[in-house]
Amino acid sequence: MTSSPARKFDLLIVGSGAAGLTLALRVAPFAKVAVLSKASLEQGATFYAQGGIAAVLDEHDSIASHVEDTMQVGAGLCHRRMVEHVVSHSAAAVEWLLGQGVPFSTKAGAQRGRGAGSEAELRSLHLAQEGAHSHRRIIHATDATGKAIFQTLRQRAQEHANIDLLEGQTALDLAIHEADGRRRCCGVYVLDDASRKIVALEASFVALATGGASKAYLFTTNPDSASGDGIAMAWRAGCRVANMEFNQFHPTCLFHPHERSFLITEAMRGEGARLELADGSRFMERFDPRGELASRDIVARAIDHETKRLGEDCVYLDISHRPANFVRERFPNIHQRCLGLGIDITRERIPVVPAAHYTCGGVIINRAGETDLENLYAVGETTFSGLHGANRIASNSLTECFVIAFGAAESIRARIGEAAAPPPAPDWPGDARAESGDDILVSHNWDELRRCMWDYVGIVRSDSRLGRAERRLALLREEIHEHFQRYRIARDMLELRNLTLVASLIVRSARARKESRGLHFNLDHRGLAPQARDTILRPADHADLLADDQSLS
Ligand code: FAD
Ligand code: SIN
Repeated sequence: MTSSPARKFDLLIVGSGAAGLTLALRVAPFAKVAVLSKASLEQGATFYAQGGIAAVLDEHDSIASHVEDTMQVGAGLCHRRMVEHVVSHSAAAVEWLLGQGVPFSTKAGAQRGRGAGSEAELRSLHLAQEGAHSHRRIIHATDATGKAIFQTLRQRAQEHANIDLLEGQTALDLAIHEADGRRRCCGVYVLDDASRKIVALEASFVALATGGASKAYLFTTNPDSASGDGIAMAWRAGCRVANMEFNQFHPTCLFHPHERSFLITEAMRGEGARLELADGSRFMERFDPRGELASRDIVARAIDHETKRLGEDCVYLDISHRPANFVRERFPNIHQRCLGLGIDITRERIPVVPAAHYTCGGVIINRAGETDLENLYAVGETTFSGLHGANRIASNSLTECFVIAFGAAESIRARIGEAAAPPPAPDWPGDARAESGDDILVSHNWDELRRCMWDYVGIVRSDSRLGRAERRLALLREEIHEHFQRYRIARDMLELRNLTLVASLIVRSARARKESRGLHFNLDHRGLAPQARDTILRPADHADLLADDQSLS
């Protein structure tokens, strides 16, 4: 038997990024919380976030304007009430972060220490500009906002007696208790990195905060953790997912042989950086009157179009016309990183390409982070709340992480008194299988998955490309299933299994959308359908995307 005695918590959060840590800190005053991370705590997208948090703080800005910008970019699919909810709580989120001590950049140029989040402090923050926002409204910590947020929240969580932070613990599936026609989440099965044993962790409430799935693509700005684990686990547990076809490609990822995932923030275009072709000519105005500050779908498609038309590998981003001191102070992280690669951005252009960046779809939740499964919550990039529609506007993701985590904490507070002790999670079946001696099969499948998604399910799609992807993914799922039957469970394989399932959900959603909208552009269906509709997938309707996985647990 591989299970060791279960450990019990009030709330078990899978994921230690902005969403998971915020939820932990909001629940810890009244309950016992554990936060799991499959690698070290910082290994999520949050740590790498650059631009900042979109929030209405300027007296000339308004909630109505932020709502309209979000809706406009979302191309008819944003849920207005959710947008209004998140945007109207954005200032409260920043206030809370200030209270935690996040050192945001101020108008005076300095980064500040821990404060109370007073009105005066809020007004002192520097506001940056990003694409498709009609006002400066991005709160940031120079160009390393995610690192500042993560380090501050981790510190607060480490100080809290009610929070256990557990590294090297990979959640592999949800434990579900079924009785009297009720299905309830009662914990998580976890693969412990050190012992390689599978243990059941029991909890009254579980929250998935596992981030996105952009690692499905060969080129991505995301860290390795982005393998869609939460979406796959929730799907296997019977939860619906929505709008999985809307995969956001960030227009400006550094193009360099030694650095394939480094983002060049959109805030650089907000400070006047220009996109140029190899011959120095600008091209964005040919695609959109907003030029470099058009929404991401438009800028990424324009770059894709120009590089393919000219047979070039990349385009160039140029900020060298701004004073060198300004560039060094405003973008210290990017300046240093590029300098290390031999590019002085105060004098030279930066070679850039689009790369997979953000998963707009995910596990369906309401504003309290509640999912279809009783006692299961989901927060952050792993979710579909209705905020982003067919295309996320810059810097609304972090805002969503905080605001929805606040709502989830309130829901848990209201329900914790009535929650019965979790029933014991059934043991995970023994794992006496052999070690895989053939890792080349696994690494080959990783390459095949990510190349297939890049080539056939990328910025520009077509019916035949999507059909090819569907067939190849079915074969991959079969091979992965065989591997699982035979060999002992390892993290790499768990991630591959999850990401192949999530890629299949992406393709299935993309095939169902017979139009081009927002991030989903299909050469065979270039126009907009008369009615904007979400793509909602229910596990019960897609037995082939359940059978091989379910038989494992
Ligand atoms: P993450 O921060 O990705 O955290 C996920 C956590 O889950 C990690 O701890 C991971 O280890 C853990 N995990 C995953 N699977 C498992 C498992 N099976 N078991 C245990 N643990 C697991 N958005 C903005 O709004 N503004 C920005 O400026 C911005 N810049 C960005 C820059 C980059 C380079 C990237 C990649 C993204 C950026 N985004 C930005 C998007 C934003 O950072 C993310 O959407 C957000 O941080 C997601 O937070 P999260 O808490 O949902 O997930
Ligand atoms: C960036 O800094 O360009 C990323 C912002 C985001 O993804 O919202």
